[in-house]
Amino acid sequence: MMKLQLALDDLELNDALALVQKVRDDIDIIEVGSPFIIEEGMRAVRELKKRFPEKLILADTKIMDAGEYEAEKTYIAGADICTVLGVTDSLTIKGCLEAAKKYGKKVMVDMICVEDVPKRVAEIESIGVDFIGVHVGVDQQAVGITPLEKLAEMKKVSKKSKISVAGGINPKTVADYKKVGADVIIVGGGITHAKDPVAAAHAIAEKIK
Ligand code: 5RP
Ligand code: MG
Repeated sequence: MMKLQLALDDLELNDALALVQKVRDDIDIIEVGSPFIIEEGMRAVRELKKRFPEKLILADTKIMDAGEYEAEKTYIAGADICTVLGVTDSLTIKGCLEAAKKYGKKVMVDMICVEDVPKRVAEIESIGVDFIGVHVGVDQQAVGITPLEKLAEMKKVSKKSKISVAGGINPKTVADYKKVGADVIIVGGGITHAKDPVAAAHAIAEKIK
C-alpha cells in the first residue's frame, strides 16, 4: 500500500507536535524537514520519536558530505531514515549506508537536481540504497515545475528501489501521482499550509489508500 509522509518544514516544534497528533491516523512517516532541522536540529527528531514511537521518522538532512558521520547522528537521535543527495559522490552515499547498517536503519537518496537520472539511478541501485526520492524542490516549484514527469521516468528506470515522490503535491493533484505509482507520497505545504491541515491530510490519505 502507498504510504503518506508528512513533511514538517516551517512549523514550530509545538505546532508540529500538535499537528501530528491530529493527523497521526492518516500518516505513515513523519518527516523532520530540512528547514526544521536548521531551526531545531536533532531535538525535533528526538521529540517526535518520543511522542510517536509507532511512526517512522525521516530526517531530511540532505547529506552532501561526511555521510557516515552525519547519518549516524540522525540514527542516534531516533531517525529511521535519513536523506542524502543523489548529486553527491557515491562515497558519501556508501558512508550513509554503512551507518544505516550499523543501526539497522534506512537511507533515502534525494534526486533533486540530478540531471542524468537513468545513469545515476543505475549507479545508486548498484550501491544498494533503500529508497530513491523523486523531488522537485520549493524553488523549482515556484517557477512551475512539478515532479509528475520525473516520477514517470523514475518508474521506467528504477529496477529495485522503493520510490518516493515530493514537490508541491496537494489534495487536488495527488490522484495523478497515485496513477503513475510510488511507494511513498510526500506532502509538506499541501497539508501544513492548507486552510484545514487535518482535512487535507485526511483527503490525501483517502485518495492514496
Ligand atoms: C524541500 C523539501 C520538502 O520537504 C518537500 O518538497 C515536501 O514539501 P512540499 O510538499 O511543500 O513540496 O524537502 O526541499
Ligand atoms: Mg523535505
